[in-house]
Amino acid sequence: MSILFSGSTKTFHLYNQEISYIMTVLPNGHMGQLYFGKKVHHREDYSYLYETVCRPMASCVFEGDRSFSLEHVKQEYGVYGTTDYRRPAIEILQPNGSRICDFKYQGYEIQKGKPALTGLPATYTENEDEAETLCITLADSLTGVVLELLYTVFAKGGILARSARISNKGEEELHLTTAMSLCLDLPDCDYEWLQFSGAWARERHLKVRKLEQGIQAVDSRRGNSSHEHNPFIVLKRPAANEFQGEAIGFSLIYSGNFLAQAEVDTHDTTRVLMGIHPMGFDWKLEKGESFQTPEAVMVFSEQGLNGMSQTFHRLYQKRLARGYWRDKARPILNNNWEATYFDFTEDRLVEIAGKAKECGVELFVLDDGWFGQRNNDHAGLGDWVANPKRLSRGITGLAERIEGLGMKFGLWFEPEMVNKDSDLYRAHPDWILSTPGRSVSHGRNQYVLDFSRKEVVDCIYGMMAKILGEAKVSYVKWDMNRSITECYSKALLPERQGEVFHRYILGVYELYDRLNRNFPHVLFESCASGGGRFDPGILYYAPQGWASDDSDAVERLKIQYGTSFCYPISSIGSHVSVAPNHQVFRSTPLHTRANVAYFGTFGYELDLNKLTEEEQEAVKGQIAFMKEYRELLQFGRFYRLVSPFEGNITCWMVVNDEQTEAIVGWYRTLSHVNMPYTRVRLHGLNPDFCYVEQGSERVYYGDELMNIGLITSDGMSGQVEELTGEYGDFDSRLYILRAVQEKQIADK
Ligand code: DGJ
Repeated sequence: MSILFSGSTKTFHLYNQEISYIMTVLPNGHMGQLYFGKKVHHREDYSYLYETVCRPMASCVFEGDRSFSLEHVKQEYGVYGTTDYRRPAIEILQPNGSRICDFKYQGYEIQKGKPALTGLPATYTENEDEAETLCITLADSLTGVVLELLYTVFAKGGILARSARISNKGEEELHLTTAMSLCLDLPDCDYEWLQFSGAWARERHLKVRKLEQGIQAVDSRRGNSSHEHNPFIVLKRPAANEFQGEAIGFSLIYSGNFLAQAEVDTHDTTRVLMGIHPMGFDWKLEKGESFQTPEAVMVFSEQGLNGMSQTFHRLYQKRLARGYWRDKARPILNNNWEATYFDFTEDRLVEIAGKAKECGVELFVLDDGWFGQRNNDHAGLGDWVANPKRLSRGITGLAERIEGLGMKFGLWFEPEMVNKDSDLYRAHPDWILSTPGRSVSHGRNQYVLDFSRKEVVDCIYGMMAKILGEAKVSYVKWDMNRSITECYSKALLPERQGEVFHRYILGVYELYDRLNRNFPHVLFESCASGGGRFDPGILYYAPQGWASDDSDAVERLKIQYGTSFCYPISSIGSHVSVAPNHQVFRSTPLHTRANVAYFGTFGYELDLNKLTEEEQEAVKGQIAFMKEYRELLQFGRFYRLVSPFEGNITCWMVVNDEQTEAIVGWYRTLSHVNMPYTRVRLHGLNPDFCYVEQGSERVYYGDELMNIGLITSDGMSGQVEELTGEYGDFDSRLYILRAVQEKQIADK
């Protein structure tokens, strides 16, 4: 990996074994983009990539020169209004009402490793040789604003991380109204756009369309990254698929309002912008103040979408997630929410936990309803003190009983919320976000605490820390069950109200950070289907997230498949729940519910006492299986093989780094009569290794499995019935493959 600067041509070349990123100083002093893609040879001069032509109707920068127009030049951080008409990366409202800026190149600095971004989650390095960071400084002489563009190239993987820092070094106060994390101008528009969208309980469904002239965007203005869209998009070449061809993934490490868009201009070039949503954003920059944007990560792959995903998985697993749990296989848990909802007593919880322990579960999680007057969803949020009517010796007493069973204990919080019927609200009615003189909307009968205020975050921290400090709590589920409305902080001046959404998220990060630092062994799970925040920002603090409130196995195929495009399997909270399912009322076989949940953190969302003895035996087998294979399932190399968005079959697999073990998950939604023969071609195996398939004990070469395929036909060969005894609707199978000595192939 290296970052090279050619002084004679003022050109930067950032590269590693896989990618090159090339940019240059343009004739007007702005930064121009020349190339991002597969690694190319280094040279001093790439000026042939700087394309300008004289266009009849173009607005031009230099008098007497009709060829230099920013409208036609690919740039690093575009500014609107000085011949560029595309959406800008930055906009600053100045005291005279103008928004025109002119950022000219001043110089650069290269440093080993990667600096942290104060107060913000970001990827990191553990030693300096893992990455190099370039900081390019530009300045607008009229306002005195200094713009620093940060680029980190990692030694391994087609990864480039970007962010921007804007500092007011002038004399007057300014308002930053747009400050994107990333602006990338690509030379053509021959791309398909992939987004991961949906709704609550239908998150991260893959949607694909061809880029066309105009703007294609996904965004959130809800205060959270949202169930509706994810701060992640992909541009891929039309011919690229899961296994080959060019794809670029764009991911924003942020949990609040965001915008991700591609603008195809009149000359078929494409501008990608990603960052904090400019709508409503207005950050006052006083003299001497700076603003740091969140980080955006771009991954280039020429091994198709799986190649791109695997790079994101490694990066987010190893250099975004942190702490004690980062590299550890995750505990198998039993959560009481779908088992009891609000209707529980301490003894009932212990009864559920007891059976869970008997089946092999390691962690019992008490969900909503344990605190204040929380007997339903109208009261109690904000009062983080155990309800003595439910828990006679508080959380400490219950945790002791659970630990006494030989399990760990976990607890649910919803730190950012308050019910009006709570002691906290009665004491601090002005602590909620609400606009003076306007009615205040609720969601699930609750209101959003103003986390832009330090005293609010301090107060919630105090209550949570007391419980975590006193009781044996090993895990926290952090919920967040509504989006923000009437966003206004009573603690900020009118001219700073455009800062509230961002300050709110900074407050959430601050609370997470304090809890992480003071309780380093607690495993945090962000409840993303309450909070709609399955995003890389939260992954920095909580290495796993409850992926969806829809726990139905068939629905989960699409949700988990879509989630896997960016996020590692170790981050995907997935549990076996009861049949019929509580969200879609579908009954799926127990083995299929487990076969889906294995590709995640795994656990149970039901009362195991209510299963038949036969089912309980099956659960014991599932848990034993997960304990044996969870390292591989959660940290192996994951491949999507057959998409649930395209048909009746879903298939995916994991392989370990040594290519000696693999697990294939195969799922068929509906059963049909007289079905065709089917095979699935596997990936990631060693072509020369021999693999034995557990159960059938058949042995194959890796190249057979990858080129001929694994036979998955059933109902004809009798193979399925022998393996699973199931072959109706919602059937599934796992194939476990283990490398063996070559001679065994001859023996078979
Ligand atoms: C929404 C979550 O996603 C559920 O798992 C559960 O924790 C409920 N909130 C509790 O209110």
